[in-house]
Amino acid sequence: MHDLYGLPITCEIDATRQGIDDFVHGFISFQPKAANVIDVARADADNGLANAYAAILYMLLEAPIAPKLAAPFLANARKATGLTAREQAAVEAARLFVAGKIPKLIELCEATVSAYPRDMVMLKLGQYHTFNIGDFPAMLRIAHKAQPEAADIAYAHGMLAFGFEECHLLDEAEAAARHALTIDPSEPWAHHALAHIYLTRGQVAEGTAFLESVAHHWSELNSFMHSHNWWHLALFYISTGRTDDLLKTYDTHVWGLAKDYSQDQVGAVSLLARMEFAGINVGDRWNDVADHIAKRGADTVSPFLTLQYLYALGRTGRPEAETLLHAIEARAEDTTQHDHAAWRDVALWAAHGIAAHAAGDDDDAIRFLSKALPRLAETGGSHAQRDLFEQIHLDALIRSGRSSRAQQVLEMRRSYDPDGVPLNRMLADAYDKSGLPEQANIARKRSRLHLAK
Ligand SMILES: [Fe+2]
Repeated sequence: MHDLYGLPITCEIDATRQGIDDFVHGFISFQPKAANVIDVARADADNGLANAYAAILYMLLEAPIAPKLAAPFLANARKATGLTAREQAAVEAARLFVAGKIPKLIELCEATVSAYPRDMVMLKLGQYHTFNIGDFPAMLRIAHKAQPEAADIAYAHGMLAFGFEECHLLDEAEAAARHALTIDPSEPWAHHALAHIYLTRGQVAEGTAFLESVAHHWSELNSFMHSHNWWHLALFYISTGRTDDLLKTYDTHVWGLAKDYSQDQVGAVSLLARMEFAGINVGDRWNDVADHIAKRGADTVSPFLTLQYLYALGRTGRPEAETLLHAIEARAEDTTQHDHAAWRDVALWAAHGIAAHAAGDDDDAIRFLSKALPRLAETGGSHAQRDLFEQIHLDALIRSGRSSRAQQVLEMRRSYDPDGVPLNRMLADAYDKSGLPEQANIARKRSRLHLAK
């Protein structure tokens, strides 16, 4: 048989082939049907590819329990015989993922896409892992390897677009994203790449209009893509002072879709924190998020995620914050993992900075976060997401009355948020405190531009 992109698969059962296709297409288009591969793999335990994909899907849970859940599927996959070389690579990818051998997994993904450029699972998986370790040129390189053979696949261009964007090649990113949308106007990863491009260019009005015009495509997507694209739109609502739309977006599209899922949780944390830094009262919204995060226990699957869990636990004064901080300290000393340096040199300092910020110790928050910020990309996340940590640092500068340093940070932030309502309010305050009333008035006027509209 062949999969939906014409790649040969070792399969005799039509339902199994359909489950494999659902995973391939669901994974790259962010549709819940990707999970159909689980039942199919259970029903057809001899099918190596279906079982490898099921194991990979469980690992994408980003939870400490994931390797345990993936294990029976991986065992089935490894027992399978008669697989093609590409299918064997998928089984090996699942094994490396479960074993935490991420650098080797990335090498394998890249080699497989080179040999089979229409293998969209290996492309997506390679991008996922290179993104998580902050290797953005590798994200772009692996997406290039799919071309020109995958030129007809919109998602391949969406992935190329995000690779370009994370490399700060915005013009190339925009061209690739627009091209993806000419093939499939509903391609959500291309919408997402454009959200990043508009944000980085400071095109707040254009970004808002664009995302609002395509948001109807996201309602049936998995909770990550649904909530994350809305999260991007919410960032624009913060900038333009659209508080009612912002809170409605949070309540309807960001928090509440899959409350136990890592990405939904950090999206909520990141948005609540940003709303508060913008001076918005978020009511009791922290509690539900922190309740769900507290249930994760000492989860150090990813430094980028863990730091945001810590923020929520610290912000709500939960005892679990202390436990998680100890787990981070232990992880920073564990030299057996591939991401040891990211934990030791970056996440550990950021964690202490976040804990200090939660305790109201601004001096330590600034001191520790300053050590982490220059290398934060090594912990994973996009630069739009990592901006949360810049904002925690900025908040500590403002709270502690360091107006001169805050002015420097805020004026630089205007390059991508020129007329931002909260940004210019903070700037006006920093200028007032720095004895520059004229600049304060100019900033104050800018802070009212959006509100006047
Ligand atoms: Fe994003």
